[in-house]
Amino acid sequence: MRTKLFLAFLVVIITALVSNLIFERLIINDFEDYSMGTREDRLYWILASVEGSMGLEGWDEEALKNSLRWGALLGYDLKVSDNDGDNVFTTPEALADITGTMRRRLESLVVIKNTIGEFEEYPLFANGQDIGTLYVREFLSRISNQEKEQIFKRRGKNFLLISFVIAGGGALFLAFALSMFLTVPLKRLRSVADKVAGGDLSGRVEYNSEDEIGKLISSFNKMVESLEREESLRQRLTQNVAHELRTPLAVMRSHLEAITDGVIKCDTDAMDTMMSEVKRLINLVQGIESMTKAEASFILPSEAERVSLAEFITGAVAGMKPLYEEKGLELNILVDEKIKPLIETAKLETVLKNIVSNALRHTETGSVTIAAKSLADGGILIEVADTGQGIAEDKLSIIFKRFYKGDNSDGVGLGLAIAKELTESMGATIEVKSKVGVGTQFRIVLAASKKAK
Ligand SMILES: Nc1ncnc2c1ncn2[C@@H]1O[C@H](COP(=O)(O)OP(=O)(O)O)[C@@H](O)[C@H]1O
Ligand SMILES: [Mg+2]
Repeated sequence: MRTKLFLAFLVVIITALVSNLIFERLIINDFEDYSMGTREDRLYWILASVEGSMGLEGWDEEALKNSLRWGALLGYDLKVSDNDGDNVFTTPEALADITGTMRRRLESLVVIKNTIGEFEEYPLFANGQDIGTLYVREFLSRISNQEKEQIFKRRGKNFLLISFVIAGGGALFLAFALSMFLTVPLKRLRSVADKVAGGDLSGRVEYNSEDEIGKLISSFNKMVESLEREESLRQRLTQNVAHELRTPLAVMRSHLEAITDGVIKCDTDAMDTMMSEVKRLINLVQGIESMTKAEASFILPSEAERVSLAEFITGAVAGMKPLYEEKGLELNILVDEKIKPLIETAKLETVLKNIVSNALRHTETGSVTIAAKSLADGGILIEVADTGQGIAEDKLSIIFKRFYKGDNSDGVGLGLAIAKELTESMGATIEVKSKVGVGTQFRIVLAASKKAK
């Protein structure tokens, strides 16, 4: 990862370097053009100045002198001649009476005594007439154009080097920082993932950020969490199931042994006992199946639908109505027709059935009432109240535990555990209040649906 990043940056640097080189080449070419251009400009300037020194009555000596002095400052040795070829004026003449300061200034720019090459000729015009010729040659410059170019190039190289060092250093630093930024959380993720692969589900990756890696890590943590949860459920269930299977199997085994030993006869009584144990086993297996389903519902996507709560509850408990009538108990449903929440119907139906069938079993006289109302925060409260035997206070905290059942229960003790598992998977809560001899109330609070509008 770090190497890849570094290589990527290297490519960027090299591209920058190459473009810098091209740029430099272009600038030097430009510089040459520029030098040529300025030379021409200067010559035109001098020509114009000299031509301007021609007045109506011939040459204005003072103006001409000045023009030639300026020409010298610009690095040119000049000679002006008229049409007859007679010299009118030359640079040495113009410089004869300049002040010492000016001479020194001039000498610092050019070597007055040395000139380069031959005179070049330029025709002079004034008022549309040919008035003579300007001869031009260069003084030896103290700073040659080549030297200037060299200075320029050297500066360009320095500039290139500095920009290369800055860009390269910056890129290196960035590559390092970025790779640290990216690899540190990934390394942590990997070490925890390795542990998970080795069976240790306790680790979590700590990384608080909303970026992509942060999201990945939070999904990973959630995954490990649900794995851990699954694992602990599986362990507990296996222990409980082993424990629950032991009793009916032991009863059957002792019966079979007694029959084999001839202690008891293999009569209908013995068969009935064994049959009831087999039924217990079957119930147990069914209970475990529903339990597993309820647990799985945590991971499965839930299907919520909007229903009329009154209709839904009536339908859910309709199957139990005859059993209530048989026992002479009232089954009341007090739900406002207007409540139409978004609920996971399959889960809630199982929960209600479990609670209402318990109420039926543990109530001898009176009634069972299912009431529901909307809460101020948008949630819904469903209450199932019976007028039955009630639950002792010390048992209230354990009735939701798996395989807990009262002494007189002929169930397997999974109904409320399943109900709790399912309510929690819906993001709801379930609680119980009870008074021995008076009755029991189960309260389910469904949180305000996030999907509801
Ligand atoms: N409405 C109720 N009134 C009194 N006791 C109850 C009521 N509901 C549940 N219980 C007690 O809680 C225990 C656990 O209930 P449950 O988990 O449904 O198991 P099961 O019904 O198989 O016994 C019951 O055995 C019973 O003792
Ligand atoms: Mg039950």
